[in-house]
Amino acid sequence: VLAAVGDRMAGKPGVAARLFDALARARVNVRAIAQGASERNISVALDMADATKALRAAHAAFWLSPQTLSLGVIGPGKVGAALLDQIAAAAPRLKREANLDLRLRAVAASRRMWLDDAGDSAQWRSLLTDSTEPCDLGRFASHVQAAHLPHAVILDCSASDTVAAHYAGWLRAGIHVITPNKHAGAGSIERYRAIRAAATSGAARFRYEATVGAGLPVIQTLRDLLDTGDEVHSVEGIFSGTLAWLFNRHDGKIPFSALLREAHAQGYTEPDPRDDLSGTDVARKIVILAREAGWGMSLDEVIVENLVPASLRDVNRQEFMQRLEEFDSVMLGRLQQATRAQKVLRYVARLDRGGKAQVGLVELPREHAFANIRLTDNIVQFSTKRYRDNPLVVQGPGAGPEVTAAGVFADLLRVAAAVGAPL
Ligand SMILES: NC(=O)c1ccc[n+]([C@@H]2O[C@H](COP(=O)([O-])OP(=O)(O)OC[C@H]3O[C@@H](n4cnc5c(N)ncnc54)[C@H](OP(=O)(O)O)[C@@H]3O)[C@@H](O)[C@H]2O)c1
Repeated sequence: VLAAVGDRMAGKPGVAARLFDALARARVNVRAIAQGASERNISVALDMADATKALRAAHAAFWLSPQTLSLGVIGPGKVGAALLDQIAAAAPRLKREANLDLRLRAVAASRRMWLDDAGDSAQWRSLLTDSTEPCDLGRFASHVQAAHLPHAVILDCSASDTVAAHYAGWLRAGIHVITPNKHAGAGSIERYRAIRAAATSGAARFRYEATVGAGLPVIQTLRDLLDTGDEVHSVEGIFSGTLAWLFNRHDGKIPFSALLREAHAQGYTEPDPRDDLSGTDVARKIVILAREAGWGMSLDEVIVENLVPASLRDVNRQEFMQRLEEFDSVMLGRLQQATRAQKVLRYVARLDRGGKAQVGLVELPREHAFANIRLTDNIVQFSTKRYRDNPLVVQGPGAGPEVTAAGVFADLLRVAAAVGAPL
């Protein structure tokens, strides 16, 4: 029996609601309820197995202890490592100022994982390196969803389809899932629908803001437009930081192949630059936005212009990097044609109402907004019923581990707020 005891409870609206809300969010089933005649006590009968979790949830709801989230991070690569470092740096302040206890309890890479209960999250690198435990996502999820902690969150920072295949099960079990991994959002429509249904039925959140525009508020902006009753007519923009950088720099003075080598050396491209140049990554982002807008679209419905010459599509990565000069004459020809028309080249994606989508290289007037973005910026224009003559624009750095991790972290804080943290 868990009892909430306090003076003047009877005269203060919302006390019982706060207790039951906290228990519900922690997925604690209440078997019986009693309110004492003194009105100083509300007692609830629970399963013994839920006792610790229920007590923590109730304490956190009444500010007697921090709101605790058990965290597991998958994929400590570039984005995952930046996220883990950001969480470690922000955790003391969040605990002090927002009464939020972000407790890192598991980290998994593709071959090994580290599970713990009271490890020092700032030491995650050495804890993972020293671990001999092989990666097992079943054990990982069970550990993150500890019986004694009210809320569990898995942050998937891999680019793995295999990991995305677990989301629906995790959400059904009540584990919140946050990710910059595009595989779930742009994968098969059946799996996507199963994930959304699992999030609704399991009362856990699925958040993926960083899948489009990294740390920029693109999905949230679209959601806000739709939720406030606006009608989206089209979404258009530059969604690849890599391709933005390449076409911002490509002015004919330096061969395209040399720019590509430089972008690769600076870490702007994927390890295999064909992942950027094929347009598939941009097409995935468009599919994610189309689905968010309620247009059940699939990747194969997007018309994509692949910039990789046919002769280079099937060779291995090493050979591809050696033969980059094969891009040069075609790209120079496209550039000269655009220049003759007083235009510039940009790799643009467009999504029209109902889910018609196209991704490719287009010629734009020099004064066009897309022609004047900086470095690896992304830019997204929403044309809607309200923003008809002058579209709503979101613009800024759209790639990079730090900003992407910050987008994931912001999603985590939204989940924390949804379970009751006063953020
Ligand atoms: N980098 C960006 O600017 C950016 C921007 C927006 C979105 N994203 C997305 O963010 C995600 C991460 O990108 P990244 O650049 O950080 O990639 P990355 O450096 O290649 O890191 C990927 C991580 O995932 C791990 N991993 C792969 N398969 C796994 C599996 N089956 N189980 C557990 N761990 C697995 C890898 O572990 P091992 O090292 O052990 O293989 C590695 O730690 C991707 O989905 C990417 O599309 C990235």
